[in-house]
Amino acid sequence: MKNRVIAILMALTMVLSLAACGASSKDAGAAAVTGTATAKGFGGDITVTLTVDGGVITAATAEGADETEGVGSVALEKLPAAMMQQNSIEVDTMSGATISSKAILEAAAAALENAGLTVADLKSGAASSADAEDVVYDADVVVVGAGGAGMVSAITAADAGKKVIILESQALVGGNSKLATGGMNAAHTPNQDENEFGEAAGVEKTLEKAKKDYADNEVITSLAETVAQQWAEYQKNPQGYFDSVELMKLDTLVGGKGVNNPALVDALCENSAPAIEWLKSINIDLKQVGAFGGASVKRIHKPVNDEGKTVAVGSYMIPLLQENCTSRGIEILMETTANEILTADGKVTGVVATGKNGETITVNAKAVVLATGGFGYNSEMVVKYAPNLKGFMSTNAPGAMGQGIEMATAIGADTVDMDQIQIHPTVQFDSAALITEGLRGDGAILVNSEGKRFIDEVSTRDVVSAAEIAQPGSYSWLVVDQEMVDNSAVIQGYIKKGFTFTGETVEELAAAIEVDPAALAETMQNWNSYVEQKNDPDFGRTSFTKQLNKAPYYAIKVTAGVHHTMGGLAINAKTEVLNAEGNVIPGLFAAGEVAGGVHGANRLGGNAVADFTVFGHIAGESASAYVG
Ligand code: FUM
Repeated sequence: MKNRVIAILMALTMVLSLAACGASSKDAGAAAVTGTATAKGFGGDITVTLTVDGGVITAATAEGADETEGVGSVALEKLPAAMMQQNSIEVDTMSGATISSKAILEAAAAALENAGLTVADLKSGAASSADAEDVVYDADVVVVGAGGAGMVSAITAADAGKKVIILESQALVGGNSKLATGGMNAAHTPNQDENEFGEAAGVEKTLEKAKKDYADNEVITSLAETVAQQWAEYQKNPQGYFDSVELMKLDTLVGGKGVNNPALVDALCENSAPAIEWLKSINIDLKQVGAFGGASVKRIHKPVNDEGKTVAVGSYMIPLLQENCTSRGIEILMETTANEILTADGKVTGVVATGKNGETITVNAKAVVLATGGFGYNSEMVVKYAPNLKGFMSTNAPGAMGQGIEMATAIGADTVDMDQIQIHPTVQFDSAALITEGLRGDGAILVNSEGKRFIDEVSTRDVVSAAEIAQPGSYSWLVVDQEMVDNSAVIQGYIKKGFTFTGETVEELAAAIEVDPAALAETMQNWNSYVEQKNDPDFGRTSFTKQLNKAPYYAIKVTAGVHHTMGGLAINAKTEVLNAEGNVIPGLFAAGEVAGGVHGANRLGGNAVADFTVFGHIAGESASAYVG
């Protein structure tokens, strides 16, 4: 709203100043003209209406009811405001909302044409960025990055009575957290009790794996002994649903191939259930529990809409976190990129950033929390650490460029596990959109181009991705049925985006995706019988949520893409950043994907939201305690 008001004032100023300095004869007495046009956005049609008076854009609107809330919807506000501010329809697209942005520009060009004008009819006279003034702020805590970890740490520090400012390099808050679809892992919560019983096969499979593959890892062996005892006790007298903090630690370490820092895994898992309660206290409720890859039991906590249908966790949580920041008076400086961490006498004293008009912004603060996310969007950096990932698509948000890692290493911070980069097996083939693992947890299967399953679909992502890459063409089809569609607003969104192929029968679906109908029919029949028997003799899957037997059937073409960078800044369990000697850099904290060591060689689905919530909260507490 503030932006819109500024844009309108600028446009009015421009009308007056251009009128004062004499318009061309063509424009001088010309009446205002209006043009409207429509282009295809991300979710549906976008309509742009422009009014031009005397060569100046005096009104610009963009409407598109189907654009993603908080992403495309922001472009609908910002781009018309920029058009008025710059008196041009050739404004920058918004990173993170590229498809919506391009549609707005396309519709604006057509709207201008429909008004009988060309770009040459628009007078130049945009506000000059050279006029932007440098600014200095003072705060107790400056948080770099307005994703999940950044906003959680800011809220926590504000609640501890600290003055907090957040800097965000992008035009949208949320970063990668906003794109998270699945949910948040948390062990031993009351929400889990709504499931009927412990998942015997899942627990036993993990215990076997721990014994077989990690016999010489003392941490894993000791956790496995504890879990075996807990499981034996539970079976004697089952109460509620079986899970434990130790089983979550075991899953996280086995999933991470034992590479994880055990102290960080302890912090993640021990604080996971309290974090669910803390989120509730700020009006964020992750009430539905489901299955996800690499978890022995149902542990991922997901949000639902008013109709009880599953919704994407990131687009649910991020606006609520933003609201919590706003209601606490936390200022978020958007499109402001931090470049440097300031230090004096070996202590951190603030950051220097570049604002959206090129101005220098200095924030003096006793504590700096880096929450800039990972580097999954920075293909050069990805390839530097993992050359085998050259050419892979990325599910990441454009802000995930590794800036926090660069700034912190410039003042001596150490890094860990930089070569540990996760690929996710279900990335939509044409758009790089993430297709949530939650669908596999809820019952979907993967078939190859021959219509055959090839892996336990709820194995860890490294295992599923490797198996998929080995299939002909290195892609697969994710198959769901109508019942799954009915229960998930997330799948309904994929249908709306045009990601799905459909068939009234399995054979019709096979024809639509050009696989052998008999082979797909046999695969589906076998799978449904495995679900009934709760036994998968082909690939040993232990999670059997439902049969796929309600027509019509749907398939999405998926492949592997870069998803998460497990490596990052070395931190301790208080989120203090460490230097190469293992000593704390006073005043510097890091939380979320910018930090390394939590997930080892492979992150479990659902542990990213747990990570940003748990470590974001710890960072807010630690920074506040440090500030005093
Ligand atoms: O597949 C997913 O929904 C991803 C979840 C995650 O990375 O935690």
